[in-house]
Amino acid sequence: MPVDLASPHAVKPLSPNALRAIVRDLAERPEEWIHRVRLAHADRWYERLVAADDHEVWLISWLPGQSTGFHDHGGARGAFTVALGELEELALAGPDHGLTVRRLASGAHRAFGPQYLHDVRNTSTGPAVTLHAYSPPLSTMSRYELRAGGLVRTAVEGPEQW
Ligand SMILES: [Fe+2]
Repeated sequence: MPVDLASPHAVKPLSPNALRAIVRDLAERPEEWIHRVRLAHADRWYERLVAADDHEVWLISWLPGQSTGFHDHGGARGAFTVALGELEELALAGPDHGLTVRRLASGAHRAFGPQYLHDVRNTSTGPAVTLHAYSPPLSTMSRYELRAGGLVRTAVEGPEQW
């Protein structure tokens, strides 16, 4: 018997392009979030700006040297944009294509599907601020280490860890 995917509780996830549009639009309205930004030495500072049924939006700040490490998004689709400053993103470009390094200047944006893994870091000399959208809202995230044979999952985190 087929599973009923059309139940009223099933929320259809937004597409990566729709999430990209959300963060780009918000980046153009800094008056809605700029006053919330904090900078923290111990770790990246973050705050959730939107918590909807089908997506969420986070504001994150990055001091020089702060990074996420390799992680997934627990099957969520996502997008982010650099609102201020500059970041670097490391991602695996496919099983045989090695590591891709992208410089993400202010105004740059990325959108990704549910299987995406990346490491985002501030290798610049100044602070950076980013806006992120995920759909469905993040429920778990796994952390990975890059070893000789590829990425190895080392931890699974839930919302209580972020
Ligand atoms: Fe991420």
